[in-house]
Amino acid sequence: MKEKNIKIGLCGFGVVGQGVYSQLSGKKAYLQEQLGANLEVVRIAVRDLNKTRDVSVGSSLLTTDPMAIANDPTIDILCELMGGQGVALEVTLAALRSGKVLVTANKALLCDHGAEIFAAAAEGGGHVLFEASVAGGIPVIKAINEGLIINNFSSIYGILNGTCNYILTRMTNEGLSYQEILSQAKTLGYAEADESLDVDGIDATHKAVILAYLAHGRWVPFENVLVQGVTAVTQDDIAFAKENGYAIKLIAVIDRIQDNGKLYVSVLPTLVSKKYSLGTVDGVFNAISIHGDVVGETVYIGPGAGRNATSSAVIADVVDASKHLIYRCSETRFPFLDPAPRNGAEVELAEPAEIHSRYYVRLLVMDQPGVMAEIASILASHEVSLASVSQKEVNEDAAKASLIITTHMTTEQAIFDAVVDLEALASVEEKPFCMPIGAFK
Ligand SMILES: NC(=O)c1ccc[n+]([C@@H]2O[C@H](COP(=O)([O-])OP(=O)(O)OC[C@H]3O[C@@H](n4cnc5c(N)ncnc54)[C@H](OP(=O)(O)O)[C@@H]3O)[C@@H](O)[C@H]2O)c1
Repeated sequence: MKEKNIKIGLCGFGVVGQGVYSQLSGKKAYLQEQLGANLEVVRIAVRDLNKTRDVSVGSSLLTTDPMAIANDPTIDILCELMGGQGVALEVTLAALRSGKVLVTANKALLCDHGAEIFAAAAEGGGHVLFEASVAGGIPVIKAINEGLIINNFSSIYGILNGTCNYILTRMTNEGLSYQEILSQAKTLGYAEADESLDVDGIDATHKAVILAYLAHGRWVPFENVLVQGVTAVTQDDIAFAKENGYAIKLIAVIDRIQDNGKLYVSVLPTLVSKKYSLGTVDGVFNAISIHGDVVGETVYIGPGAGRNATSSAVIADVVDASKHLIYRCSETRFPFLDPAPRNGAEVELAEPAEIHSRYYVRLLVMDQPGVMAEIASILASHEVSLASVSQKEVNEDAAKASLIITTHMTTEQAIFDAVVDLEALASVEEKPFCMPIGAFK
């Protein structure tokens, strides 16, 4: 049989694109032996042809026109590694409509345009592979799509942003403030110049939305996800966590409510018991715990970003795509990559009144008589029951105090309403900080 030549176009030659190229080149012979096919990068799109790069390529490979790659009928696989929305969306849709396999790391694009992207694939006979879009080097998409295919997923919990986990870990281990760690993280290149995608929880939400789609077949609109980043976490919160056997983690939750099967997606700073696996995952690592009805809990831990980790995931997709191109009957689609709702009808989204948790609330209050009674009365009016209260003076004349409250089980709606009323109290000095106390199995 004549050896097949698989032609690959890379749109983007930055952190990830250069990693993919150098791994494909360095392990060319191995891949050829495994696949019985030659993987060849035939075109690379960049913005600036004159930029100095870590990985050098012949100038004849480079173009500034990614659409030329999307529209080139000789290219089999297009890797979208540019990021962003405008051009990336055009390129993605054009590639899929012309029947190519699209390999993408662009979680923001999938989160915002997933339905359109998958429709374009179905319409044009193309395929979308996106292992690198969630948790970098951890093969979690493959785990859900293939290894765990027989399972229904009652809950998925994830540490999906390495920058936030790095900041929270160093706040815990070194007692430094969020701001101090952030500026160091920027200097070390762990955080972007515009850090908000990471620290405001946006990046983790993009990934949570993709996992929710994979597990439950529904694109949850970004605005339906409750999101809070890590910027409001202080040393008071860290001290409470340490004293009580918890770690604070930015946790993405993709949950099916036990009583009614509705879907809940959130990304919130969360108190996680140190006895639970995710409570011990530190630094830039990502971790995902998946509960399947057949398998039970499986946990995946590893590097969630960076050149090599992300390239590893992109190349796994390129190899899957190549196998498909080599062995397919032309009409067949990739198995399991277009997740239909596993239980038939589209899953409904849960309301805040249907979400149950214990909560932690930190308040900065005037330290004066009657304050605690006011707070207790507000909580009682929302049927939120106190589990513990602790108080710490915050300045020398002790005029203000940091008050930390934990609650018994209540609903998200009740705690939101209570926090709004607490903030309105004259004795409460700033917006209260609230986070769930994760009841992970
Ligand atoms: N970095 C990570 O660790 C990581 C992890 C997981 C997923 N991802 C995702 O992977 C994607 C790429 O990330 P990255 O970190 O590699 O980004 P990057 O370093 O900024 O590289 C982006 C590349 O795309 C090129 N590009 C951008 N707009 C273009 C346009 N309109 N036309 C032609 N070329 C264009 C840039 O060209 P120039 O070089 O000429 O500027 C650059 O080569 C993003 O979707 C990101 O979210 C990244």
